[in-house]
Amino acid sequence: MRKDNHIPFQKRLRPRSREWEGPETGSPVLGGIGPGGAVLWKWNMVILFIFISSLPVSAQELLFDDGWKFAFGNASSPQKDFGRGTEYFNYYTKAASIHNAGPYALDFDDSSWKDVQLPHDWVVDLPFAAEASHSHGYKTVGWQWPETSVGWYRKHFTVPADALGKPVSLRFDGIFRDSEIWVNGFWLGGEKSGYATATYNIAEYLNYGGDNVVTVRVDATFEEGWFYEGAGIYRHVWLTVGESPEKPRLHLPKIEIDPDRGILLDGQVIRLRGANVHQDAAGVGAAIPDALWVWRIKQLKKYGFNAIRTSHNPVSPALLDICDSLGMYVLEETRLMGTNEAQLEPLRKMIERDKHHPCIILWGIGNEEWGIEWNVKGERIARTMTEFCHSIDPTRPVIVASSSGPEIVKGTDVAGYNYILQNPVDRHRADYPGRVALGTEETSGCGTRGIYYDDVENGRMAAINRSPQGPDSLFNCIERGWQFYDARPWLAGLFYWTGFDYRGEPNPLKYPATGSEFGILDYCGFPKDEAYYLKSWWTDEPVLHILPHWNLEGHEGEKVSVWVYSNCDEVALSVNGKNLGRKKMPRGGHLEWTAVYQPGRVRAVGYKNGRKVMDKTVRTTGAPAALHAAADRGKICADGRDLAVVEVSVLDGRGRFVPTACLPVTLTVEGPGRILGCGNGDPAFRAAERPTDPAARSFTIDTFNGLAQVLIQSTGEPGDILLTLKSEPCIYSVTISAVRP
Ligand code: GAL
Repeated sequence: MRKDNHIPFQKRLRPRSREWEGPETGSPVLGGIGPGGAVLWKWNMVILFIFISSLPVSAQELLFDDGWKFAFGNASSPQKDFGRGTEYFNYYTKAASIHNAGPYALDFDDSSWKDVQLPHDWVVDLPFAAEASHSHGYKTVGWQWPETSVGWYRKHFTVPADALGKPVSLRFDGIFRDSEIWVNGFWLGGEKSGYATATYNIAEYLNYGGDNVVTVRVDATFEEGWFYEGAGIYRHVWLTVGESPEKPRLHLPKIEIDPDRGILLDGQVIRLRGANVHQDAAGVGAAIPDALWVWRIKQLKKYGFNAIRTSHNPVSPALLDICDSLGMYVLEETRLMGTNEAQLEPLRKMIERDKHHPCIILWGIGNEEWGIEWNVKGERIARTMTEFCHSIDPTRPVIVASSSGPEIVKGTDVAGYNYILQNPVDRHRADYPGRVALGTEETSGCGTRGIYYDDVENGRMAAINRSPQGPDSLFNCIERGWQFYDARPWLAGLFYWTGFDYRGEPNPLKYPATGSEFGILDYCGFPKDEAYYLKSWWTDEPVLHILPHWNLEGHEGEKVSVWVYSNCDEVALSVNGKNLGRKKMPRGGHLEWTAVYQPGRVRAVGYKNGRKVMDKTVRTTGAPAALHAAADRGKICADGRDLAVVEVSVLDGRGRFVPTACLPVTLTVEGPGRILGCGNGDPAFRAAERPTDPAARSFTIDTFNGLAQVLIQSTGEPGDILLTLKSEPCIYSVTISAVRP
């Protein structure tokens, strides 16, 4: 539909090709189940095959994610923290820590520690509590929980004798947070930030040809952000032997900014259709495997997104590789704003590490810094940081996001407006006609997937978009946002708050809500209605989406506003056979009719140029009677690990999706796969997300409004994986199939 769909760098890039299988080969895998699974669920059995494999990685840069041991330390008692720092000569006072018997010592006995595979976020396994941090999704981590806020990791490894004399280093892509690292008892240093990559030289400390141990202590007592951040070694670790491999030379687009046209890449104007994205997902927390990132970025693309803002921190290098490969623009943002080493050093690290990624189009230096947005200090700090960014990377413009303060944005190349309700954007345009600007955040107005009547006591909201027109002017805000930016070509586009639901910030609700409801896709990546609004205006694909569903039990006889999101020119609607009329679709809008709810059906017919082109019906379903499962895959990435994203849905006796079904499903896995995590997109989720024992073969997850998600990861061995799903009184089964060599 839009010319700017074209992403110039997309085709030319194949980053890290030695480790990367490349984008988009093959289609999502759903094997072994008759057409659409229909035959099998009749037998109460669904069989789903997932193809799983592993890829070799570079000889020089070895993935270091396997074979780790984990145990909790303690944030308030050194004794319970394996005696750390209590020794006569501690690891600061003498190199090699010869007096230290703690986990940094080579012969320390860690046999009782838990086996873990990285990426690992230990918060996923912690319970929720009403008194825990609202920001971190009411998980029992942080200053109130010293017993679960410090974690220790150990891994034994060997380096061949012939590596002696070569540079050897360990690279941690991200540890949340305040990490300290030792190799063979030598303290290597640490990294406070939970979002920075840190590399340590270890060549001099090694036993070449013999046993070595790396030890990591992580202290997640402090929050760095006001959203769920997880805890632990939640990104990859790499061992590099020999010279560090050179970064691949990729075409970096020439980026220009222009006050009347926004952002241009290689001379072409681009309109940003963006999503703010935090770095957590159902079942895995902050430890998102690469293949799940691939899947998530593809979900965003399905609905027409072409950009993400990494709110509000630097992301993993793996995610940037994926954005390069799939064609997703990135505004990458630093976590800390200020002009001292504590703030400039992480900013430098981010830019140095990521400036070779063609997906990066903007560097972000801050978000809603309320203390400085309104005064000259904000402008000064922003200017100093902008110049600092330019000194490292003169090719990318710099942006700061303001909640409404007018001063801070004067110091950067591009002004970022968080919400048009808060920022007088048109007045700024009149006052500063030379300013380049875009919407760094804009309200999505979404609530809980499948909920149409507020249920706030239970932590679930209906979409604000459909609340009655009121003084808060939040009615229809997703449309208001896009229409505003669409009508102003001098703005470079917008980033909705947010692409996916995230844990924490269930604003304006509190516990028992545990996750945000701002996402256009839920915490699992299942679309809410608003995803179809965007799809209808942001893609060429035909869309005719009716809402609400027609299982509104308890509301019989009540008036219901029926909406249609569509890119047809006109839509006709009938409810239970009664024709409610044909209406013209306004640009960037939706259509609505009022009906009286009785069980039955809602039918929409879409027309283009006067011709009927689409026909959709939503029906009241029967009770849950069957399960369906479909496996999609992310794509194998730098880590070589395959993953199946299994969508479990509940059907009635006639095979129709039941949009209100919430029932427990017990899954069992056989074969070379493991249950990495599960979720269902419920913003009031308070159950376990995965088995405590990673080797467990069985787990129970509730569906939420008809859906659940199961993440199955390859163990690396070839073979078929059988996933069986049971939900009393029925048994359903899914076979995840055949492994590629
Ligand atoms: C914004 C902020 C985001 C998030 C959001 C929640 O003001 O920039 O990080 O907190 O509010 O509504």
